[in-house]
Amino acid sequence: MKKNTIITVLLFSVAGLAVMTGCENKRKPGKIYMPDMTYSRALETYAPIDTVFFTTNEKNPRGEIFYNSKPVEGTVARGELFPYLLPNDSLGYAMSAQVKNPLPPLTTKDSLESARLFNINCAICHGAGAQGNGPLSTSGKIGAIANLTLPIYVSMTDGTMFHSIHYGKNNMGSYASQLSRLQRWQIIQYVRTLQPKAESAKGAATAATKADSAAVVKK
Ligand code: HEC
Repeated sequence: MKKNTIITVLLFSVAGLAVMTGCENKRKPGKIYMPDMTYSRALETYAPIDTVFFTTNEKNPRGEIFYNSKPVEGTVARGELFPYLLPNDSLGYAMSAQVKNPLPPLTTKDSLESARLFNINCAICHGAGAQGNGPLSTSGKIGAIANLTLPIYVSMTDGTMFHSIHYGKNNMGSYASQLSRLQRWQIIQYVRTLQPKAESAKGAATAATKADSAAVVKK
């Protein structure tokens, strides 16, 4: 019995000593076998990087861990659609006509959401009916805003529209950072609901073209 007590006390002292040694200095925890585990990588985008352990230099000359806060190349964020890879040049623009809208037809909930997004992001120029008559157009602040109900835009493919929304075009800026890819494809589906059907577009277009050219001359 006595022997057991002595052994127990001894064991506790050894364990206590080990714990205390471990806690002695949190900044210098001794030999680190797996630095990736010991120092977790900060996930916050703007968190400062501890340059003692991390480097943004990919060549990693002094043995630190490479970390540049960016997603690993080729990865796709959960819930996000695949990246749009066509380049921002005339060839990319031409090729965009082949890109298909990956979304199924809008559900009622989605169309309410896409209408909301269109009205927030696009209607300021294109107008709530996409006729190129939003407040920035009628005030004359921005010229040559496309009337998306014209036949040229009715026959424009979803892919080309996406390309222009992704990169921007002339007076229109890029929406790549404001809207997710999913939202951009949804907005295009919503624009389709504002456009006349392909056959009836021609007649309605003549009047619209006249109004359009008047707007351009005014500018
Ligand atoms: C600052 C004003 C402005 C805003 C906001 C704007 N656009 Fe435009 N948009 C333009 C102008 C100007 C053009 C004509 C570009 C050209 O062909 O010179 C245009 C053209 C387009 C075209 C035709 C592109 C092509 O390839 O010819 C589409 C489609 C379009 N806009 C969709 C949108 C959508 C969708 C949004 C909202 C996400 C949006 N625009 C927001 C000004 C704007």
